[in-house]
Amino acid sequence: MHSQRRSILGSFMGRRCRLSVLILAWGGLTAEVSAEVKVSDFGKTADGTPVEEFTLANSSGSIVKLISRGATLKEWHVPDKSGKMADVVFGFDDVAGYESPANGYFGCTAGRVANRIAGGKFSLDSKEYTLATNDGPNALHGGVQRSFDKVVWKGTPFESADGEGVVFTYTSPDGEEGYPGTLAAKVTYTLTDKNELRIDYEATTDQASPVNLTNHAYFNLSGAGSPTINNHELMLAADHYTPVDSTLIPTGEIAPVAGTPFDFRQFHAIGERVDQLGTGTGAGYDHNFVLNNQDGKLALAAKVRDPNSGRVLAVYTTEPGIQFYGGNFLTGAIAKGGKKYDYRSGFCLETQHFPDAVHQKNFPSVILRSGETYRHTCIYQITSD
Ligand code: BGC
Repeated sequence: MHSQRRSILGSFMGRRCRLSVLILAWGGLTAEVSAEVKVSDFGKTADGTPVEEFTLANSSGSIVKLISRGATLKEWHVPDKSGKMADVVFGFDDVAGYESPANGYFGCTAGRVANRIAGGKFSLDSKEYTLATNDGPNALHGGVQRSFDKVVWKGTPFESADGEGVVFTYTSPDGEEGYPGTLAAKVTYTLTDKNELRIDYEATTDQASPVNLTNHAYFNLSGAGSPTINNHELMLAADHYTPVDSTLIPTGEIAPVAGTPFDFRQFHAIGERVDQLGTGTGAGYDHNFVLNNQDGKLALAAKVRDPNSGRVLAVYTTEPGIQFYGGNFLTGAIAKGGKKYDYRSGFCLETQHFPDAVHQKNFPSVILRSGETYRHTCIYQITSD
């Protein structure tokens, strides 16, 4: 029996972490078998820091791989309607890929402030702060050298009643990437047996500072590397969105989606109206939607159906907003397994506070003060019809 366990779960076995228990029906027998989070070396960053890879598995046949650089979701293998597995998220096979310019924040934890800050400047408590600008005139996704996607987090695997997972922690020193205060951040990924990948964020600071963390997974529910997401159908629980200027900074308006290509209150194919927003690099969906649920409780934010594979992604969050980005800046990067990520071949649904909230009085505040705890939960669940 022991050797059978190893042959079933051999690829999930790791060198440390506690045991979790799975009940597998196999060959007519129901056997209690043990699985554990596998921890392996994933190479080193250019500056020589070791990166670890964590493999999670559940009883529904899902496998998730996370890496400690950027507390990043690297792979998510899930069955389609006929039970066929595919890896549905973007990523690279090695650290060098993640460090290359081809990496459009694939699967990372973005922060301290995900999304854009106009002009790379903000003032807080009468003091002006200057950030690096890395997206035209604006600051994007937390900086250039040591933003949360680029640093190596400490990963600790665990097993709980909900599933198995990894807690990633990182303490960002005062002034890092121009942000005030020492910020202690924690990101917990849990894979449940219901094919939910739950992400719980927490942060505390010793000085007031803006915080807006999100996950930047790119999905293609037919399998990462499939040619388009235009055939996927999207529903967003949002009656309003935040229109943007030509540099993707919100104008401040909270506009109704009714009568516009942003109306996803009922399912629409992503490609149905996208060209009304323009064609060519950068044009298309890259907007923050104002979720109808604004009370901070976990609620459904979005659903995406892929008619080809039958896979359905549901997104739940406690956050007030969600950035729907349709992969308009993708230009054919060659990544995991030699697959190519073409224009509009992946989408992100980034649960978050609204972009440029530091400059918009009418947007929910992103300022975290000493003594407070930032909390945010996002659940991505993949099922098949
Ligand atoms: C932004 C896009 C950007 C992408 C990768 C998304 O969150 O909204 O404009 O290209 O991240 O950086």
